[in-house]
Amino acid sequence: MTSKAQRKVRKVVFPVAGLGTRFLPATKVIPKEMLTVVDKPVIQYAVEEAVEAGIEHFVFVTGRGKGAIEDHFDLAYELEATLKARGKTAEIEILKASRPTFGAASFVRQQEPLGLGHAVWCAREIVGDEPFALVLPDMLIHGKPGCLAQMIDTYNKHGGNIVAVEEVPHEHVNRYGVVALGKSFDERTHSISGMVEKPKIEDAPSDLIISGRYILQPEIFAWLEKQKPGAGGEIQLTDSMIALLADQDFFAYRFAGTTYDCGDKIGYLAANVAYALDRPDIAPKFRPVLDKLVGK
Ligand code: G1P
Repeated sequence: MTSKAQRKVRKVVFPVAGLGTRFLPATKVIPKEMLTVVDKPVIQYAVEEAVEAGIEHFVFVTGRGKGAIEDHFDLAYELEATLKARGKTAEIEILKASRPTFGAASFVRQQEPLGLGHAVWCAREIVGDEPFALVLPDMLIHGKPGCLAQMIDTYNKHGGNIVAVEEVPHEHVNRYGVVALGKSFDERTHSISGMVEKPKIEDAPSDLIISGRYILQPEIFAWLEKQKPGAGGEIQLTDSMIALLADQDFFAYRFAGTTYDCGDKIGYLAANVAYALDRPDIAPKFRPVLDKLVGK
């Protein structure tokens, strides 16, 4: 197997074109990535995780009706001018901290919802010929350090392609991509010997699912370009990773952290509770309210 020498991961791709039908009517006008966990949109947590990992350029694969994401990461001139006139410096700092520096964000549209693999392929011109991170914002991962920072560390040791994995109950494996493991390097890092997208429960090679964080080599784009539809009739990233596995190393990384699947109502509600309880400014007031609600 040959892998390219480690080149710095400078860019991250966020696929944010999905319709969010599971959250209607909330997502009729508001992109699902703009739904808030406590007081920040879900997409902002993903961006902050990438910033913490040292990423320099943010690529959003958007679609029609997703303009609020672009506006969210832009300068809100009138709002900031009004806050300044009113002496609201803390609020101005919150806004400043949430926007990428000049030229550090790119937006490209996926015109048709053809699948995750197709969304990633839509970013090819902006990513170019260099390794990149891929973060699926729905999978909100609470970790210190963040999941992507942990993966970059692993990438710096092993190179190749890195896929974040975690164990789920066996009866849930059919909702995800599932990996089969080969050799172990340490308790968190293993080589991947196979992958399958949304297998039947009885066919899954393990209970380790792909958790929505990847570091990929640019050769993936050549496979995505010719990828035929797979599970669910969609162009699947996992199928192109399986093809690239013949030429390059893939490592499964069992990250330290807790995942909240914010594409699902229960996961989204759990994220709000967990992130509120993690906030020193909110937890002391929220905990008694929560206790009362759950009858403690
Ligand atoms: C995608 C990937 C899948 C991964 C999942 C994580 O599926 O194709 O391999 O396990 O994200 O959320 P999707 O959720 O888009 O169906």
